[in-house]
Amino acid sequence: MQLVFDSLPDIDEQLDVSVQAAVNKLAEQELSESNGSVYTRTEVVDFILDLAGYTPDVDLCNKRLLEPSFGHGEFLCAAVSRLLDAWYAKAGRGDAVADLKDAILAVELHGNTFKEGRGKLIQLLESRNISPDKAEVLASHWLVQGDFLLESIEYPFDFVVGNPPYVRQELIPSALIAEYRRRYQTIYDRADLYIPFIERSLSLLKDEGTLGFICADRWMKNRYGGRLRKIIAEEFHLKSYVDMTGTPAFTSDVVAYPAITVISREPAGRTRIAHRPAIDKEVLAKLAKAINSADIKNDSSAVREMSGVAQGEDPWLLELPDQMALIRRLEQDYPDIETAGCRVGIGVATGADKAFIGQYAELDVEESRKLPLATTRDLVSGEIKWSGLGVINPYGDDGKLVNLDDYPQFAAYLNQHKEVIARRHCARKNQSGWYKTIDRIVPSLAERPKLLIPDIKGEAHVVYEKGELYPHHNLYYITSSEWDLRALQAVLLSEVTRLFIATYSTKMRGGYLRFQAQYLRRIRLPRWADVPENLRTELSEAGRSLDAEACNHATFKLYGLTHDERSALGGNGA
Ligand SMILES: C[S@@+](CC[C@H](N)C(=O)[O-])C[C@H]1O[C@@H](n2cnc3c(N)ncnc32)[C@H](O)[C@@H]1O
Repeated sequence: MQLVFDSLPDIDEQLDVSVQAAVNKLAEQELSESNGSVYTRTEVVDFILDLAGYTPDVDLCNKRLLEPSFGHGEFLCAAVSRLLDAWYAKAGRGDAVADLKDAILAVELHGNTFKEGRGKLIQLLESRNISPDKAEVLASHWLVQGDFLLESIEYPFDFVVGNPPYVRQELIPSALIAEYRRRYQTIYDRADLYIPFIERSLSLLKDEGTLGFICADRWMKNRYGGRLRKIIAEEFHLKSYVDMTGTPAFTSDVVAYPAITVISREPAGRTRIAHRPAIDKEVLAKLAKAINSADIKNDSSAVREMSGVAQGEDPWLLELPDQMALIRRLEQDYPDIETAGCRVGIGVATGADKAFIGQYAELDVEESRKLPLATTRDLVSGEIKWSGLGVINPYGDDGKLVNLDDYPQFAAYLNQHKEVIARRHCARKNQSGWYKTIDRIVPSLAERPKLLIPDIKGEAHVVYEKGELYPHHNLYYITSSEWDLRALQAVLLSEVTRLFIATYSTKMRGGYLRFQAQYLRRIRLPRWADVPENLRTELSEAGRSLDAEACNHATFKLYGLTHDERSALGGNGA
């Protein structure tokens, strides 16, 4: 099946002047990690070429390989070196230009980087006995300086390999983002640049062609990766996935955890999975062989095989099979936490904390126009220790912005800070409501008992707040009309919750999990009405005690975990 975006307009003919200007500007920029330049170690490059099947035993002279953002030429030079091995083994001393000119296409946007990569390529060709003028001709055939997402590329490829750029949308000029959005269906929400890169690269694969990329693993589970996952589930085969978390896969340190994916344009099938290999030439060569071998032994710990990893837009679940079986069982047996009568939300972002937040007692506004605020710092040691901060509140109980004429002190306060408040993006978009906060404040939330959970913590950090404070934006909250919150606290502190979050969230540096609303909503929970009286008490006491073992013990009973399921969690609450 062909994807819809196979033929793109020619860059020179149809690009709007502002888009062309934006591309030119990017091409001249200083490179840094923030505009996507992270280079791959040679051991990892060879590993990816092996996994994708770009090996000298294949007739590489008659295959086409694409490197969409070649940087300093790490993948490019390794691939060309293999191509020359194959060519020398086959053709001996034919005409390199005639034989090889269609074998490679490599794109790079940034001018200076392009020059550096080109220089390295020429050096390599000459060191492999290609004459200087033929080396120049080949480099001119193979290399394109331009924006991979806009260049017209005519033919499909047998291989696409590389490490696409990581660039957040905010850093790309708006005319260019609009053009990308027009062309690529996967770029929505906060999708990073590597998302449309993968989309276009996949679209350029021949039947049975294979892509091997290393990039951040975020898109495999999160919201903005959804459309890309759907394309892959419907039109491709996710052949292998290697988790590179914590390995020095790149020449510099990066925050986002990397993974290698190998995807072919062929009917969907099983996925080979490996985790965190040592970055060592021999280890990786062996691992590639094991991943690509016809049979694998599932009892060998290095490579596992799973079916049904890519399913529509669903997050890819790549964890250990017994843990997956437990997740699947709980997902089948219980409703999600919100259906079970709990609400998961995030605290207020103001866009200008300096103006909106201050010591509660000192905020010189009417009592009804300020709320005591809970921040991450108040959550030390599993309990609330309010540091006395407050947030000014522009919303009434009816959810509407209040009229400033009704609150003269509030109006005076806002005017005093007007320069900062009105400068915020949300204020400029809505001039009459210039004093709104980014998220609407619902004053009654402060009065509701709730559980507060800070984002980014290695272990669940779930704190009971009895109904006095309004949560700040780095805090997620859970309220419930059905569940006893102390009992729910025990569930949220248990290994079961940890497994749900670890399965669905992306891990941060140091193995931290992200306890964000989208992942918290994945938790499955029995209905409170179905929890027997004695277990209710046990859960609630465990929550109050904050004792991990007691929370596990009661929660394992709640979900009726079998002995095997308990050991899959590695928990000790048996
Ligand atoms: C993550 S680096 C990878 C470089 C190399 N492939 C490697 O693995 O070491 C990404 C490269 O993409 C380039 N780049 C950024 N945006 C691009 C675009 N729109 N088209 C082509 N290349 C781009 C950057 O200049 C950078 O060299």
